[in-house]
Amino acid sequence: MVRSTAIAAAVAALALQADAAGLYPKSSKVLQVTTADYDRLIAKSNYTSIVEFYAPWCGHCKNLQPAYERAAKSLEGIAKVAAVNCDEELNKPLCGKMGVQGFPTLKIVRPGKKPGKPTVEDYNGPREAKGIVEVVKDKVPNNVKRVTDAKLDEWLDENKDSAKAILFSEKGAISATLRTLAIDFAGLVPIAQIRKTESAAVEKYGITKFPALVLLKAGSDEPIKYDGAMEKAGMVEFLSQIAPPNPDCPPAKAKKDNKKKDKKDAKKESKFSKASASHKSSEASSAATSAADETLEEANKPTESPDASLKDEDTPEPIVISEVKPTIPVIADASGLQAACLNEKSKTCILAILPKDESAEAATTALASLASIHKKYDDLKSTLFPFIGVPSSNPIATSLLKELSLGSDDEVHLVATNGKRSWYKKYSGTAYGPIEVESWVDAIRMGDGKKEKLPESLLAAAEKEQVKEEKVPEQEPIKIEIEEVVEEPEAPIPEHGEL
Ligand SMILES: *[C@@H]1O[C@H](CO)[C@@H](O)[C@H](O)[C@H]1NC(C)=O
Repeated sequence: MVRSTAIAAAVAALALQADAAGLYPKSSKVLQVTTADYDRLIAKSNYTSIVEFYAPWCGHCKNLQPAYERAAKSLEGIAKVAAVNCDEELNKPLCGKMGVQGFPTLKIVRPGKKPGKPTVEDYNGPREAKGIVEVVKDKVPNNVKRVTDAKLDEWLDENKDSAKAILFSEKGAISATLRTLAIDFAGLVPIAQIRKTESAAVEKYGITKFPALVLLKAGSDEPIKYDGAMEKAGMVEFLSQIAPPNPDCPPAKAKKDNKKKDKKDAKKESKFSKASASHKSSEASSAATSAADETLEEANKPTESPDASLKDEDTPEPIVISEVKPTIPVIADASGLQAACLNEKSKTCILAILPKDESAEAATTALASLASIHKKYDDLKSTLFPFIGVPSSNPIATSLLKELSLGSDDEVHLVATNGKRSWYKKYSGTAYGPIEVESWVDAIRMGDGKKEKLPESLLAAAEKEQVKEEKVPEQEPIKIEIEEVVEEPEAPIPEHGEL
């Protein structure tokens, strides 16, 4: 009852191969992190980081990019704003380990109680610079002591053997900048904040304007006043007269062992990128050699640019065409489809309702696009809702066309369904290339856009046990038991508010 589609001839061509180039240029303030340096730069850092796990082909990632760049700028010196390109071979282990299930995934990583064992949590806030900056600032740990007139002597006494710094402020809240300064100088220069209202302390150190930063050398009560701008770099420089700040993360080449390891990693890295480059070129060539590919080539145009750079770098390796072509499962019988996707308990599915003539160009293109999109997620060990082909011979195909007003059975139709939440969403585009289809899939993943009510008549009552038994025979390479990736948010997430 379930068969893998043979239509996949065209799929071979689907070099909807990810753009190897990442979204962030070298000059970006966004720190680009790989499997090789994630541990050192992020996990072992004293700083709080936000890390975006992305794929260059993902529409929401592209939309986020400018906001993320802005966030990186305003968090400079306060927190790390990093990105991991999960399309890179080298990074797949990291993205898998971090449980990345969709793009973009944003995680906040901050130092835990044990060094090297950071606390990691998902960032689900607004995808705009302001929201990101606020949330990340909020996560910067605080080592700054709030000191009052009554407690001043005690604090001075506690730290009498070291230099110390005090920020006099009109505000009670401790800014992220000051908190980060305290992290930079942890164990070197303890930092306190005293409010303007603490008049004895204000008078003692002769403070007349706020905010004011003063430094007290060990054994001295004579304040050295900072007269620069109240920004991170200047303040760091000022406190550096006592000692250079702590490194925010371990140096790249601290020990001999590390040095060797780093070198190896670097080698591996270059080997990896070569490997993926030649892989891509072989894929592109196989696309070019296949006869049935006109439409696909066309659809792929926008992603092709990186190939140019390959020519002058490497001699392409021999073309390997033996790769297994990605396909999506096709379900031809009504009960199989109901069990997989159309019952009261079923989660999101994407159905490709095929025309009578399954070899029609639009249909093969649509299936090929879906197959290669799903393959990407599979390669990443990420889960994505099932994509299922529904041939016109499946009795439900006719009901779907009619009940959802999809149109004629001479054409292919893509529709996302969710039985549990009773919605469906049509693909309204006319082009079925990977890029168009992917952005639609992305929107579904993110819970974006308007959904329509799925008529109950299309849903089988969920007699769960029975349904389970009837499910997919084991030998079939089908993935309908996959958990849904992203729970649709109850209320729409404000997306890209600033853009
Ligand atoms: C982190 O902070 C500690 C003090 O709390 C400091 O000793 C260390 O050098 C800093 N840097 C790293 C990479 O651990």
